[in-house]
Amino acid sequence: MKRFFLLLIIIALTLNLKAEDGYRLWLRYDKIDNNIILQQYRNAISSIHFYGSSPTLIAAKNELLHGLRGLLDKKIPVANTISNHSLLVYTKSSSVVALHTGIDYVALGKEGFVIRSIKAGQKNSIVITANTDIGVLYGVFHFLRLLQTHQNIQKLFIKTVPKIQNRILDHWDNLNRTVERGYAGISIWNWHTLPDYIDQRYIDYARANASIGINGAVLTNVNANALALTKDYLVKVAALANVFRPYGIKVYLTARFSAPVEIGGLKTADPLDAEVQNWWKQKADEIYQYIPDFGGFLVKANSEGQPGPQSYGRTHADGANMLADALVPHNGIVMWRAFVYDVASAKDLASSDRFKQAYNEFKPLDGKFRKNVLIQVKNGPIDFQPREPFSPLFGAMQQTPLVMEFQITQEYLGQGTHLVYEAPLFKECLDADTYLNGKGLPAGQAGSTVAKVVDGSLNNYPVTAIAGVANIGNERNWTNHPFGQANWYAFGRLAWDHDLTSEQIAEEWIKQTFSNDKHFIDVAKKIMLMSREALVNYMTPLGLHHIMGTGHHYGPAPWVSNAGRADWNPVYYHRADSAGIGFDRTATGSNALIQYKTEVSNQWNDVNTCDEKYLLWFHHVPWNYKMRSGRNFWDELCFKYYSGVDSVKWMQQQWNSLKNFIDEERFQQVKMFLAIQEKEAVWWRNACLLYFQTFSRMPIPAIYEKPDHTLEYYKSLKFPYAPANPS
Ligand code: GCU
Repeated sequence: MKRFFLLLIIIALTLNLKAEDGYRLWLRYDKIDNNIILQQYRNAISSIHFYGSSPTLIAAKNELLHGLRGLLDKKIPVANTISNHSLLVYTKSSSVVALHTGIDYVALGKEGFVIRSIKAGQKNSIVITANTDIGVLYGVFHFLRLLQTHQNIQKLFIKTVPKIQNRILDHWDNLNRTVERGYAGISIWNWHTLPDYIDQRYIDYARANASIGINGAVLTNVNANALALTKDYLVKVAALANVFRPYGIKVYLTARFSAPVEIGGLKTADPLDAEVQNWWKQKADEIYQYIPDFGGFLVKANSEGQPGPQSYGRTHADGANMLADALVPHNGIVMWRAFVYDVASAKDLASSDRFKQAYNEFKPLDGKFRKNVLIQVKNGPIDFQPREPFSPLFGAMQQTPLVMEFQITQEYLGQGTHLVYEAPLFKECLDADTYLNGKGLPAGQAGSTVAKVVDGSLNNYPVTAIAGVANIGNERNWTNHPFGQANWYAFGRLAWDHDLTSEQIAEEWIKQTFSNDKHFIDVAKKIMLMSREALVNYMTPLGLHHIMGTGHHYGPAPWVSNAGRADWNPVYYHRADSAGIGFDRTATGSNALIQYKTEVSNQWNDVNTCDEKYLLWFHHVPWNYKMRSGRNFWDELCFKYYSGVDSVKWMQQQWNSLKNFIDEERFQQVKMFLAIQEKEAVWWRNACLLYFQTFSRMPIPAIYEKPDHTLEYYKSLKFPYAPANPS
């Protein structure tokens, strides 16, 4: 009997060791399961030569040894003399200068790296080299990625340099560890046990970020708490900064504009007041004493109730410049957000369309900001919807560097339970042509894409940045949904190189996270690549936007009309009536289209030429309007909603067919989440169509299954405890 129990315990332990709980993300380093490739790699890497011993290089060396040990299932010796098949890892300044031949270090800048196969005498080697230690670390992670994705490493010639300098995760984490719009547990920052207790998760977070080139983290919520700037918290922030430093990650904090009053005892936070300016200077000096490489401040001001310079009759430029002056001696930057819509009344549509407010407030300030101020703009004009046209500010600010702000956490994209691969959303925005510099290039070649505005290549800005609102929490697998990890990964990879395709990134991620099996990759990739369009179809097709439940943004609520402000109500955005549906933003409506360059607005101005995916963003369309498919608008709307649900059903079937390709644990998790997604997609479809039908007065075509509940039923649903409500 005793023996039997012992056996059970051993089995349980072994199973536990093999459990794929998702914690390792895309850095699993399991033994290569293809023997031919394994042998090739073993042959090609017989020893490692590592030059240098800074904390960053030690991190790189440990990662390389740990990765190779797992992938090759073999301990690779660290050697002093170069033999055949050595892996040489060094910076330009190391003693092996002889090996620098032919490497253009100037082009590599501070973070780029080269991975090359070289032949020295009779010896074949692979070199990973860079100007800096962090470049080497990035090179090591890239090399491990090559192995994890089973690439040929015979004739390597890789040179890569990030296109954007500051690649940042914005955590909307509160000091009490709740996470605004976070669906993966509580904050990973345990403020209570910091600075003395260093959770292994902090180190693994830094490794994961460095592996995809993320080099900054804003630790605190944009709805800021001034206490984060007090000494008590600065020592905790410093402890995190110490962990992140070897991995090239700088920390940033959100600065609450009223901090001089709240924690400084001043009577005002007026940015033109000398005492206030001095307070921020001293605060910056103090922060840099604790964190010498502190990145700077992210600020949400005069937006959704946050304090700001306008409370004192000053402009955003006055506020941002004051903080910039305090940071400039320390090389810090200010990322000042353009997410503003504080015009309370929506009576005068021409001036108050929320779509127009960021542009109206910031365009006049172009050129008035200090050099270390960047304006942080959400990808679309409203708020991280499943699909938005790009924000007009990207085509408008010619003298101000802009930070792209994407939302990785899925506030409006099914939250913690829907499988939605976001790279196509990010790419759609980055690849859009703003025509900022006019036509410029021949047709087909985008001249002034959003990506080029952000990476500074149009204006040669000295500082550039991109930010993603993180989807990370203390769930064992970090993101709750196993596929949420793909969005963190995709953000990092695109921040490094926005020319990568969604497909390339998906494939890389799948191979590292799940399997290199070709069939698995093909199917999983198809699921990922269609998932965002599926979500758009079952939630907000044809340009519908912001019709989610108010407050928590969970589920459909297109009928809501009683929220505190006009522009918090779904009815404000869809404007359905007996004549049609959609927000007229042409000259006959709010005229928001005028904020785009003519080449862009011309594409969207005319209902007959407007890309149908943006139709209701810009037009109030009659229910019987003839769509390009030949269907009338109402039938097209039904078609989109039903095909969205069908796509999810297809995703479920496809996933089920993958059961034997991966571990049971993650297979089941995704399967259960897909079941939730299917249920909620049906809910979205039925609720929206039944509601819009009260205006169209047209039948849902008979070919479709009938909604199984009444509109009243859907309206009666309440979710007082839906997660991640604003603090
Ligand atoms: C959205 C979100 C808020 C968040 C805000 C912001 O409105 O719902 O929770 O604070 O964006 O980006 O500041």
